[in-house]
Amino acid sequence: MKPTISVLGTGRMGSALARSLLQAGYRTTVWNRTAEKTASLAAAGAAVAASVREAVEAADIVIVNVTDYSATAVLLHSDGVASAMRGKLIVELTSGTPHGAREAADWIAGHGAGYLDGAIMATPDFIGTEAGTILISGPREAFDANQGVFGALGGNVQHVGEEPGRANALDSAMLALMWGALFGTLHAIAVCQAEDIDLDQLARQWAATAPVVDGLVTDLIKRTNAGLFASDDETLSSISPHYSSLQHLLELMEARNIDLSVVKGYDAIFRRAIAAGREHDDFAALSHFLGKPGDK
Ligand SMILES: NC(=O)c1ccc[n+]([C@@H]2O[C@H](COP(=O)([O-])OP(=O)(O)OC[C@H]3O[C@@H](n4cnc5c(N)ncnc54)[C@H](OP(=O)(O)O)[C@@H]3O)[C@@H](O)[C@H]2O)c1
Repeated sequence: MKPTISVLGTGRMGSALARSLLQAGYRTTVWNRTAEKTASLAAAGAAVAASVREAVEAADIVIVNVTDYSATAVLLHSDGVASAMRGKLIVELTSGTPHGAREAADWIAGHGAGYLDGAIMATPDFIGTEAGTILISGPREAFDANQGVFGALGGNVQHVGEEPGRANALDSAMLALMWGALFGTLHAIAVCQAEDIDLDQLARQWAATAPVVDGLVTDLIKRTNAGLFASDDETLSSISPHYSSLQHLLELMEARNIDLSVVKGYDAIFRRAIAAGREHDDFAALSHFLGKPGDK
């Protein structure tokens, strides 16, 4: 028999989650702080709970999707909710930190409920589609037992580890990668605008260069994983030519009065590596100059 599900939070993402569960035939109850936002889901067949407690009581699985973990904590600490959770599975799909997920996992286990923590790597329009990606961490058994539910949320819902913080940690890692590209794009746009270059030309150049950047990113991860930091025959580029080119960018941006705060951060990392005599090492050696995991 299909488990019953409640979704706490029907904002943009929570609504998409609830809608895909309804479409997959799950009996779904929804609750939202602003009750009007549940109307279209009610029209699509959802039951609407009058309180968080009622929503938790109505379901085997409680999916939470609100703004942040402090909002989740307010909901789960409200009257009678903690005791209503006993024996249920709580699936936190709100974005958060690894630390927040570990804390929540401990607190929820202390109230006799199961806990899975997820990171949604998609916009609401991808939810319920084949390309919908969600990373889930926590007990594998709880994930495997509910494959049907997760399959309804997207074709690429993956269990990424037992450790509850894993999904959020991977989410932050992927965001770091994404923002590197997006902020890089903002700088490229600013340079083109300052130098009177049509942005269509930038788009064409990016199309030609993207495979090169893709290759560099893949190579950087691979070499770091293999511990190949010294230059060798396979090295695509060492630190030194990157550093020289960065100086050209810094000079241009300074002359054009473009904000330097991000690129000065790059410069600082290069300088630490060069001061340590590593300028001829593979670019991957820069990973030693970001601070080591655990050095807090
Ligand atoms: N949208 C995306 O593309 C996307 C992608 C990946 C992950 N996410 C994550 O999904 C989560 C929700 O994002 P969203 O885009 O759906 O945001 P949203 O449309 O702004 O919805 C936020 C939801 O959180 C509720 N909420 C906020 N504070 C609350 C509180 N103190 N108590 C109770 N409910 C509270 C809101 O209730 P009200 O309606 O009453 O304000 C609403 O249901 C976030 O963690 C976000 O990072 C979103």
